[in-house]
Amino acid sequence: MIYMINCSYKGRTSNSRYFLGLLEKEIKKYSDTECVVKNIKNIIVRGFDDFVEDIKGAEALVIGAPLYVDGLPAQVVKLLEMIMERCADEFPAIPVYVVSNLGFYEPQQIRPLFDIVKNWCDKIGTVYGGGIAVGAGPMVRIIQEKSLPAVLYRKVDQDFSKLAKAVEQGQAVENIYCSSAVPRGVYLKYAHKMFNKALRENK
Ligand SMILES: Cc1cc2nc3c(=O)[nH]c(=O)nc-3n(C[C@H](O)[C@H](O)[C@H](O)COP(=O)(O)O)c2cc1C
Repeated sequence: MIYMINCSYKGRTSNSRYFLGLLEKEIKKYSDTECVVKNIKNIIVRGFDDFVEDIKGAEALVIGAPLYVDGLPAQVVKLLEMIMERCADEFPAIPVYVVSNLGFYEPQQIRPLFDIVKNWCDKIGTVYGGGIAVGAGPMVRIIQEKSLPAVLYRKVDQDFSKLAKAVEQGQAVENIYCSSAVPRGVYLKYAHKMFNKALRENK
């Protein structure tokens, strides 16, 4: 079983959940391994003991987290601390992967987030398996969901396929930084329009 955690405050509607789904879809192409997706809030608030039991039977852990203020959302830090403090000895030596997305166009801005998770893995004695970062994540999701020309997101699909193979085989990969083929200037114009609309609607 592959244990995935959706670490966005937005829960089911989040982009993190969407990208975990993309990975799950790719994994299913290679194997029958079951993928379980849990919401981080449920684990922290009432399901921590169940999480500790379930993770012992998992082949891999996938942390699906957005970039917030150049780092991990606070509730992910909280979970990593809880594991460290309460069950570091019992935590299995399974590979830990990261699926992340961010608002900025350049996916490399996610590097500190990957480093935080890798440092945590080193400290707890488990294996950092690598991560995938999707630049301009909200836009990539929209162009895929609206079925715009596949050439715009083919590279994203290929990169998720590469990570899926590694997860399925329990192997480590170099961090993957992926973007759509939409030019930066076009994205910036689009993003500003969407931000202004969201501000007007007070979302
Ligand atoms: C509180 C907050 C902080 C954010 N900080 C960053 C940031 O530092 N860099 C960035 O590129 N995007 C940033 N974003 C944008 C998110 O990474 C982006 O919207 C992402 O798609 C959110 O994923 P989610 O739907 O899974 O929460 C931030 C968003 C929020 C709400």
